[in-house]
Parts: sequence; structure tokens; C-alpha cells
Amino acid sequence: MTKNKNNHAIWSTRIKNSNSILFQRVGSSIGIDKRLYKEDIAGSIAHVEMLFRQKIISFKIKNKIIYGLNKIEKEILNKKFDFNKKYEDIHINIEKRLFQIIGEEAGYIHTGRSRNDQVITDLKIWIKASTKKIHSNLDKIILSILKLSEKNVDTIMPGFTHLKNAQPVSFAHYLMAYIEMFNRDKKRFNNNLDSLNENPLGVGALTGTSFNIDRNYTTKKLGFKKPTNNSIDTVSDRDFVLDFLYSVSVCSMHISRISEELIIWSSDGFNLINLSDKIVTGSSIMPQKKNPDLLEYLRGKAGNSYGNLFSMLTILKGLPLSYFKDLQDDKEIVFRSNDTLIDCLKIFDEILRNFAPNKKKMLELANSGYITATDLADYLVKNHSMSFREAYKKTSEIVNFAEKKKKKLNELTIEELKKIEPKLTIDVLRVFDLRNSVKSKNSYGGTSFENVKRMILKYKKNI
Ligand code: ARG
Repeated sequence: MTKNKNNHAIWSTRIKNSNSILFQRVGSSIGIDKRLYKEDIAGSIAHVEMLFRQKIISFKIKNKIIYGLNKIEKEILNKKFDFNKKYEDIHINIEKRLFQIIGEEAGYIHTGRSRNDQVITDLKIWIKASTKKIHSNLDKIILSILKLSEKNVDTIMPGFTHLKNAQPVSFAHYLMAYIEMFNRDKKRFNNNLDSLNENPLGVGALTGTSFNIDRNYTTKKLGFKKPTNNSIDTVSDRDFVLDFLYSVSVCSMHISRISEELIIWSSDGFNLINLSDKIVTGSSIMPQKKNPDLLEYLRGKAGNSYGNLFSMLTILKGLPLSYFKDLQDDKEIVFRSNDTLIDCLKIFDEILRNFAPNKKKMLELANSGYITATDLADYLVKNHSMSFREAYKKTSEIVNFAEKKKKKLNELTIEELKKIEPKLTIDVLRVFDLRNSVKSKNSYGGTSFENVKRMILKYKKNI
């Protein structure tokens, strides 16, 4: 960047002394908000086009400014732009460079606007674009879960409550529970678009402007749906940041939950899944180890997202209207949450493609813990006209008996069963079969093989 007389702070006529190096370092956000350069330039171009249409600036000045802005964009893209802490943020860095390129006419660019509306316009556009990236990463994950599910409709595992064997389920059904969560995540990010689609540009520092600007024009040009209603609220509002951070937190929490689940399943105690060598690490002392570090990384990162959400909530709590420097941290928080989530989504997809169920072990575990006891109770209700509570009691007696005899339910003979409930006939033994149990859960949303296959088709259609 060549030096010229504009190489001083914008406010240097009023504020005679420049800030200390320390204050420049802590007060400037250029290291963070330079990521908004594209959005900032797009916003500036829409703004000057509007100023020209409204006869606030001339055709010549508008063209000169747009020429300069396009040149700046290329410089940044080609890493030829000198980002300077002295100019605080991306907005002043670009304005300063514009002066160097086109001279004094650059001074017209900031007519009828403020950095306060500029910065949130940029950030809203950025979050909208990132929402799309998060969506496409979530779609990849959903697809990977679907692929795994298709191969595992018939894989039976124990469904747990309290981590104790509860009732047998199809492994695909278990996996697809997470598709529901990730679909809700997509919806959650989408719901935020309503407020992200309100255009802040044109509210000035906090009051609006006396220039005859056309906010509907910039709204359309920048892909927003409507201009914001209240200038003071607009520059103070960071609800859209909180919405984004909350959505990231919930999505990270889902990833963290399934990671924890996979960690437990891959542990030596459970041994329900095998993680491929691509996604495990070793130990520096214990040669036999294959540790699920990546899953642990994912589990831990949810904590970072929550921290970011709480940082922003705390910054806003008790902050009077309208703009304060406190707000400057919003971008760093958003970028951190966003980048971590994108990394986590990518890592998680890799994990999904690099583990396999240990079907034998799943079946073995599903065959323990009297897992078909509920099926027996249901059978008694359906075939021996008992109330559910009566059948539940009778089944408990049978489970107690099996426990005493150190037998599984499917190892009991009809004679033994009849001793407890004389009405029972030989066909009762069917209910102790795991496949029959899964097959029978065909209520909407249940784990029956038919339901699972139907859901796979449904998810496939929606992708
Ligand atoms: N870099 C600033 C921020 O991100 C832009 C807004 C500055 N406005 C102000 N009145 N100092 O918050």
C-alpha cells in the first residue's frame, strides 16, 4: 500500500493524539473481521448504487467508488492487501484504501451510513451464507447415517434406558434417531433466517438519516427480505447472533451425545462397534491401545459452543441501547463457534464412514437382561385377557424365577412357565425371540423392520 495524506486516523482532526500501540492492539478487530471483506464490499456497492439512484451522489463518483471497491476485493483475494491495525476494522481499512486508489471522492462512500449498521449488515449476510454450509454438511452426515442404516435394518441390538437393557431394537432405528435430531438442527438454523433477512443497512449510527435513502433498494440488492423497523433496536440487536450460537450449541450437543454413545459402545466392556484405524490413536506407553480420541474431541467441543453462547449472552446482559464497543466481540465468538462446528461436522462424517457394528456382540448383549419381558407382558394382555398391570406382575414373577434358575427367558421351558401361569400355552415361547419382538413394534415411529425400511425411503426422498 502506498503512503498518502490519508494515512492517519479518520478522527485525527478531533482526536489529536494517536492511541497507544497497546490500545491499537486490543481495540482493533481487523484480525478477526477481515473475514467479512466480501460482505462489506457487497454492502458498500449496494449502498453507493442506491445513493446514486436517489441522486445523493453523481454517476461519476458512484462508478469511481465501485471501481475502487472491486480493485480492493481483488487485492484482498490475491493477498496483496495490507490490513492495518491502526485502522481498527475492516470498514475503515477498506475506506482508507479507497482513498489511496481513487482519491478524495472516496469521501462520499460513507454518506448516510455508519459502521454500526455496516457491521451487522456484513455479519447477517455472513451468517446466512454459513447457514447454507452447515446445512450441506448436515446433509452429508444424514446421508452417511442412511447408508449405514440401510446395511443394518436387520441388525438387532439392545435398546437402553438408564444404560440397562430395555427392549431389542434395529440398529438402523437407533442410528436414525440421530437423523431426526440433525433434521431438527437444519430446521433450527433455517428458522433463524427470518431475522437474518431483515436489512440493517440505512439505520445510520442509531437514528436513521436525513438523506433521502431507499432502504428497499439495498434490501433487494443484498438479498434481504425487508428493512429493519427501528433504527435504535437495529444497531443494538444481537439476537440473531444468539440464535446462531444457540443453534450451533444444540447441533454440537447432538454430535456430543452420539460421540459419547460410540465411545461407550467401542469400550472393551461393551465392544458393540469397531472403530477403524483411521479414527483411533495409540498410547505412548500401552502398546495395545486404540483410543477413540476423535470422538472424545467431538464430545468436548460442545462445551466450547456453550461457552461462546454464554459469552454473548453475558456481553448483552445489562448493555444499554445502542452501540457499545462491547459488541465488537460478537464476530470472534460467531466465527469460533462456526469454525468448530464445521470441523466437528466433517470429522463426524468421517467417523460414520469408519466404524462397523459388531453384530454378534450386539445380538449377544440383546439376549441378556430379560429384554423381552415387556413382550411377555403384552402377550398376556392380548391372549389371556389380563390388565396390563396384572400381566406386568405375572411377568415379574417369571423374571424372578428365571433369575433364580440362572436362565434367560428364552431358556425357560413351557412346564416351568406354566407353574407360574397355568393358562400359558406353547406359543408363548415366540415372544422371547428377539426378531419377533422387533417385528412386532410396528406402531408409527416404532422399531419394526417394516417401519425402518419405510423411514429409510422417506429420508432418502427428502434429501
Ligand atoms: N468494528 C466495530 C464492531 O465490530 C464496528 C462498529 C464500530 N462502531 C463504533 N461506533 N465504534 O463493533
